[in-house]
Amino acid sequence: MSLISQIRKDRLPRHVAIIMDGNGRWAKKQGKERVFGHFQGVDSVRKTVKAALQSGVEYITLYAFSTENWNRPQEEVNALMELLVNTILNEVPSMNDQGIRLRFIGDRNSLPGKCKETIIAAEGLTENNSKLTLILALSYSARWEILNAVKKIVDSGVESERITEELFSSALETKDFPDPELLIRTSGELRISNFLLWQIAYAELFFTDKFWPEFDEELFYEAILSFQSRERRFGKTSEQMTHSA
Ligand code: IPE
Ligand code: IPE
Ligand code: MG
Repeated sequence: MSLISQIRKDRLPRHVAIIMDGNGRWAKKQGKERVFGHFQGVDSVRKTVKAALQSGVEYITLYAFSTENWNRPQEEVNALMELLVNTILNEVPSMNDQGIRLRFIGDRNSLPGKCKETIIAAEGLTENNSKLTLILALSYSARWEILNAVKKIVDSGVESERITEELFSSALETKDFPDPELLIRTSGELRISNFLLWQIAYAELFFTDKFWPEFDEELFYEAILSFQSRERRFGKTSEQMTHSA
């Protein structure tokens, strides 16, 4: 039986977040430069979007470039920024036709002008689409985001008693999106690398040894099936869950 046919539509994660890792190692493994892996990774993004549309997941967040990634060799940073701009320009028309809304989270002011312009235009063009929301994390780190939220809240002059989890969430970059219920990381690393720390408080984690350029629809479905096989207790007991207390 195909994997997608085993997915239960009534128990889908609404939001899946992905740490797309292992492009460099994948390229090196075949004697190529690291950037070759980044190029190939675009294909995995296409496959992920296709799988999300097929399965009915409403939100996908992809970690494309972290705050810490600015510390990579300048040449690699430049190549990544160029690839990002070109990919967005190439893919946006077809994404728009498919009803995909593009959104970006991260420090847009730290991006090169061309990149910032491209993401603003892509968000504007696709803002009324509702089939799937594709969120790209660019120059993003969770600690940056959390500190920014703290600054906004302090500047607003709100009294401390009025600061709730909801109010805090509404000061984050992700204020318009539900929290991810499933977080996938490729490449075998078992870490979060400063991604969505607040939002993944109760997410299910799925790690695979496959490098990002090897990621495909089937692996996406496998992650969803793994998610659906787990009991999410949210602090309660197993007995409470089976009696749907
Ligand atoms: C993920 O692949 C892409 C980015 C972080 C931009 P890497 O470039 O981190 O590849 P590895 O982890 O070094 O193999
Ligand atoms: C995490 O990957 C960031 C992205 C996928 C964009 P890294 O390759 O930067 O993470 P570390 O440095 O191995 O933790
Ligand atoms: Mg990496």
